[in-house]
Amino acid sequence: MNIGIQLAYLVASVLFILGIKYLGKTKDARKGNVLSAVGMLIAIAATLFTLEVFSLIEIGAAILVGAAIGLYYSQKVAMTKIPEMVALFNGFGGLASFSVALSDFFFKNANEATSLDAINLTSILLSVLIGGVTFTGSMVAYLKLDGKVSGQPITFSGQHLLNLILLLAFFAAAVLVFIDPSQEIYLYILVGIALLLGILTVIPIGGADMPVVISLLNSYSGMAACATGFILNNNVLIVAGSLVGASGIILTQIMCKAMNRSLMNVLLGGFGQTVATGGADGPAVVVKEIGVEESAMLFDSASSVIVVPGYGMAVAQAQHVVRELMEQCEKRNIEFRFAIHPVAGRMPGHMNVLLAEANISYDKLIEMDDINEDFANTDLVFVVGANDVVNPAARTNPESPIFGMPILNADKARTVIVSKRSMGKGYAGVENELFGFSNCLMLFGDAKQTITKVVGELKDMA
Ligand code: TAP
Repeated sequence: MNIGIQLAYLVASVLFILGIKYLGKTKDARKGNVLSAVGMLIAIAATLFTLEVFSLIEIGAAILVGAAIGLYYSQKVAMTKIPEMVALFNGFGGLASFSVALSDFFFKNANEATSLDAINLTSILLSVLIGGVTFTGSMVAYLKLDGKVSGQPITFSGQHLLNLILLLAFFAAAVLVFIDPSQEIYLYILVGIALLLGILTVIPIGGADMPVVISLLNSYSGMAACATGFILNNNVLIVAGSLVGASGIILTQIMCKAMNRSLMNVLLGGFGQTVATGGADGPAVVVKEIGVEESAMLFDSASSVIVVPGYGMAVAQAQHVVRELMEQCEKRNIEFRFAIHPVAGRMPGHMNVLLAEANISYDKLIEMDDINEDFANTDLVFVVGANDVVNPAARTNPESPIFGMPILNADKARTVIVSKRSMGKGYAGVENELFGFSNCLMLFGDAKQTITKVVGELKDMA
């Protein structure tokens, strides 16, 4: 292949690696995004020079249609729906690899001039398996996240055995394809098994574990792309696929650690199934309410405040008014910080993105491990639409489905105010005993509306 194209692929690969490195730090993330995008542009442009089957016009039209659809959805999607969008992206990534593998198989089978060698066949079969599982698995994850199907785990006896049998059947059929690739029926069987496996492996996984599943499927989509790179003999696709595959696995590990679960425990599923029974919830908690005016007085008299943002802040779009609250507190020389739980919200980095959008500087966002000790010395913790990530049951109740998940020690502060609309549960569907603690006060109402009023009171007091 042309040396110029290989050099362009090398430059693109280096840009992808630098891009990922920069994406590791919030303040450099934009730079990382731009570098990766430039890398992708170079990779696409170089690939266009190698075209044999399609014309530039056909490819250009496909890029335009794809870009227009992507642009439309990126403008339209709400921040709270990004996880669903990521699930769809992963699924389509898997579908693309799966489709390329199939078309390559049928094309080479029909064309006697080219033959399917062992490397080619192995890559095709891996791409069909991983791409197929990624596609249907991601679609199930999307439907669960979007509430189109229940987020509860769907389990039945013999489920894991069935998955194992299907996997073994896949490898058996794969051997038959190796023996005689012209028997296309075996490939159809492989396609069916891969698609079915994707559905069966994701349905037993409960809603609270979806972030881990999405990240794992993201990694799968990278592996499928890598296998497709071998099929197409395209180095940049191999590199990009490996990077996505490896970074997805690392993120998956980080999230498992944040929830104190092993990956195997997540994949075997069933987590959260006891939730509906209420058995682990214990008696309903009795809470104390606080109004807007008294809340403002507590802020006014505090010397240190930690805000714990959660999914409800994203729903209410309260990040801008939280910044105004911060400004009011800082005018009074009150120390004001944010405690960021790794799985607060519905996607990795959800809270960081929202707070950055409200121009809150990165140095105010403190990761869980760095701030957890400080809660005990804090006057006031303000929980804004967070629930599971401050639920002490994770520390104290072995029967709770979230037992063992590291949480923010909000309950250790002198006073806690919780902003939420009702006694509604969080994502894991369990009661939060913090709300009944003697140092906890509930500020009921939509976070944006109530915090706006608190800020108004603080302005009046100034
Ligand atoms: P959650 O436990 O889901 O709690 C969010 C709370 O926000 C709810 O209790 C809800 O109570 C409140 N809320 C909703 N709309 C509101 C509004 N307009 N104003 C004020 N409050 C509102 O959130 P969390 O503490 O951020 O925990 C995240 C959970 O999601 C964890 O269980 C995690 O495992 C899971 N999860 C995380 C991710 C990632 S990667 N971040 C992805 C998927 C799932 P009301 O209804 O009473 O208002």
